[in-house]
Amino acid sequence: MRFAEIVGWGKALPPTVLTNDDLSKMVDTSDEWITTRTGIKERRISHVGATEMAVVAARRALAAADMDPAELDLVVNATCTPETLIPASASHVQARLAARNAGAMDLNANCSGFVYGLVTVSDMIKAGSVDNVLLVGVEKLSYLVDYTDRSTCVLFGDGAGAVVLTPSDRPVGVLSSELGVDGEAADILCVPEFGTAGRPGRPDPRRSGIYMEGQEVFRRAVTKMGEASVAVVEKAGWELTDVDLLIPHQANLRIIDATARRMGLPASKVFVNIHAYGNTSAATIPVAITEALEQEMIRPGANLVLAAFGGGLTWAAAAVKWGERTTPLSVSDAELPPVTQTVWELLQPNFEFYGLPEKLRD
Ligand SMILES: CC(C)(COP(=O)(O)OP(=O)(O)OC[C@H]1O[C@@H](n2cnc3c(N)ncnc32)[C@H](O)[C@@H]1OP(=O)(O)O)[C@@H](O)C(=O)NCCC(=O)NCCS
Repeated sequence: MRFAEIVGWGKALPPTVLTNDDLSKMVDTSDEWITTRTGIKERRISHVGATEMAVVAARRALAAADMDPAELDLVVNATCTPETLIPASASHVQARLAARNAGAMDLNANCSGFVYGLVTVSDMIKAGSVDNVLLVGVEKLSYLVDYTDRSTCVLFGDGAGAVVLTPSDRPVGVLSSELGVDGEAADILCVPEFGTAGRPGRPDPRRSGIYMEGQEVFRRAVTKMGEASVAVVEKAGWELTDVDLLIPHQANLRIIDATARRMGLPASKVFVNIHAYGNTSAATIPVAITEALEQEMIRPGANLVLAAFGGGLTWAAAAVKWGERTTPLSVSDAELPPVTQTVWELLQPNFEFYGLPEKLRD
């Protein structure tokens, strides 16, 4: 029987930091409110496009797997902020990597996109239709953030993470999964006019940023991430006590804590980096996997649960058996280009489109 093992991993986080104190210079908020309500201290704002972040994360993941891009059969970008729609953003990544033997496609399930992608490509590998796959989670969410709206602008950030998968005859990788959606409630977390919903060339700033009914999304995220996480543990034939590490989507520390409580996991078995990056949607989990490996929180043969919730309203969880190797085979020298702008200069296009935040008006 064929399984699909994660053999490479990497991340690319833009260096520019937007702190809670920076946000309190724009809108009526405070470090204290943001920290206690969300767990976020800072987030990254990208000076480059999503492709550049994806390519750096991908090169690092390929190096960790010691794999040449020409060996890839498929490149998948999980994203809801592609640099272009035509071509799909995975085509840019395929071209930049010169992955000349690969197919390429984007997959959009919003914040659950990486887990949806992991389940999809793992099943393609298990079925034998592909061997080597690059799966990227990349977001430039700052593009969609209206910094006049204090209820959403504190939450989101930019970044990319990537994994490389390859067939294995050992029982590793995704052992069980749950994918769900409540499309009827999708309008409580949406960007109303990013696609063809708008008039060509006439974007409406009031309908082009992220809209969210926070409390209702929160309530549903707690329920669905908890239910899906418990379900994949049962389906994998594990007990909850067999779980070595929960790697949850990082949207709100209180959602993470509630999911861990539902699973009866102590804090030492839960990966958290929300303080550093906020919510980076589909990039969150591959970045978290990479950092959990760097911090030696994933041991050889570890039992992992990945769980996500987001726009759609989608949710996804997977029970993942890690393989034997937890260190990279080699290290890439790929880097993002240097930043020449301040964080305020990077946010200027948002201010021009959505409006200047209240406190910057004088
Ligand atoms: C957005 C979120 C942090 C808001 O936290 P909350 O505890 O639900 O806060 P509420 O929306 O109830 O707002 C409470 C008060 O804080 C205010 N508030 C909202 N944002 C604020 C901010 N940045 N700073 C200060 N006050 C703020 C509200 O206006 C409200 O004030 P009021 O009581 O005077 O009306 C939280 O609901 C959340 O994380 N939701 C889910 C996010 C998520 O999971 N997304 C899914 C993936 S994309």
